[in-house]
Amino acid sequence: MALEWNDKVKVGIESVDNDHKELFAIMNQAMEMDYESKEFLEIISALESYILRHFNSEESMMREYIYTGMTSHRQKHVEFMKEFSNIKGHFQTEGPTPETLERIRFLLSDWWVKHVSEVDQAMAGYINHRIMES
Ligand SMILES: [Fe+2]
Repeated sequence: MALEWNDKVKVGIESVDNDHKELFAIMNQAMEMDYESKEFLEIISALESYILRHFNSEESMMREYIYTGMTSHRQKHVEFMKEFSNIKGHFQTEGPTPETLERIRFLLSDWWVKHVSEVDQAMAGYINHRIMES
């Protein structure tokens, strides 16, 4: 299932929304590629650094606004990166298998919809509230 941009995933912080839009586009592109190709592995590696950079920027925003939910939010990012790098390793060594494909499809679609619409929305609600107060 391709990632779709809609109000559920729009958090109202421009930099975060722009990152998400771009990441969604790259993740959709990755999922349409030939999983056996060298290009697929390249896009997976590029995604790993884009996503890490995006998580870091969310985390510095949470620090800046002293967001109370930061620890558990950060934990979700850590878990994602761990699972992503694990799957990437499987792709590099064994190539695509039904199991790794299922895991990567989950990570690059359902995980993001859930994370953005719940965890990022909660963070953005807090930060937007703080911005309005100041
Ligand atoms: Fe996040």
